[in-house]
Amino acid sequence: MNEQVSRLIELRRLEDRTRVIPNTKTISVVSGKGGTGKSFFSLNFAYQLSRLNKKVLLVDLDFNFSNLHLLINHASQFTLSDFFLQKKILRELIYRYADNLHIIFGDSGAADYPKISRDILEYFFIQLNKITPQYDYVIFDSAAGGDDITLYQVNKTDYNIIVASPEPTAVMDAYVMFKLIVEATDNSKNFIVINKSDNKEESDLAYQNLSTAVRHFLRSDLTLLGVIGFDRSVYRSIVEQELLMKAYPNSMAALEISELARRFLKITQVANNNQSLRTTYF
Ligand SMILES: Nc1ncnc2c1ncn2[C@@H]1O[C@H](COP(=O)(O)OP(=O)(O)OP(=O)(O)O)[C@@H](O)[C@H]1O
Ligand SMILES: [Mg+2]
Repeated sequence: MNEQVSRLIELRRLEDRTRVIPNTKTISVVSGKGGTGKSFFSLNFAYQLSRLNKKVLLVDLDFNFSNLHLLINHASQFTLSDFFLQKKILRELIYRYADNLHIIFGDSGAADYPKISRDILEYFFIQLNKITPQYDYVIFDSAAGGDDITLYQVNKTDYNIIVASPEPTAVMDAYVMFKLIVEATDNSKNFIVINKSDNKEESDLAYQNLSTAVRHFLRSDLTLLGVIGFDRSVYRSIVEQELLMKAYPNSMAALEISELARRFLKITQVANNNQSLRTTYF
């Protein structure tokens, strides 16, 4: 496979020099600490964007602890390991959850999961690029922390959304994650979502501390995309294996995600209008 992979990578580099790229935007959802709500947020955010008439592909890139399929109670027939084991092409992995929301699942703890090297990852992104032009947004749910795969991935995406909970340890971990992102990337735009917030004072303080540290030590900016409160409906929707936006559309957290998706589109569409042609993508 290695020779084939190298040839494809080289071919792709040549293509990249001349191609005009479609307007698909890619988003990595990441965190410092584990369990901050990345998978819950990715899924519900993706769904909300799809309801706002955007065509979305959601990809579970948390290779070791994939669980998007559990959140919607779907027994995925094919997963990313079928791609990495060269049994399936990416197109065959797509699950059509709704007209505007397609999902590629991973699988937890597969015994024969191949080791994902840089070359394989690059090959994966090249193949992914072939199926993404039909989408407005491609969203990657990621593993917690800054492992090699996540740092490679954030370097490929247009936007990174760090999901952090407001307690000081999680804020510190979010800062470390952001530092790793800044070191690994040159031009992506970074957002923070504060999730499981108990009250406004707590989330305001968390964002204030984080953005001050980011400005002072990293000379960078971190835009607050939104705050999602701690809400029992989230827990209930996960136990019921149904999307929050469907099961509890009027819950506080669902309304906050709706608002957050609207804000995200507003910010990114303004940025998009200012950028008519792009020359590089993956
Ligand atoms: N806004 C919220 N209110 C209440 N509980 C929440 C909220 N967001 C997430 N949770 C709880 O946090 C748990 C972890 O969420 P999730 O699995 O999405 O985190 P994660 O960041 O993807 O975890 P991992 O790092 O392991 O991938 C959920 O099972 C849910 O019960
Ligand atoms: Mg997760």
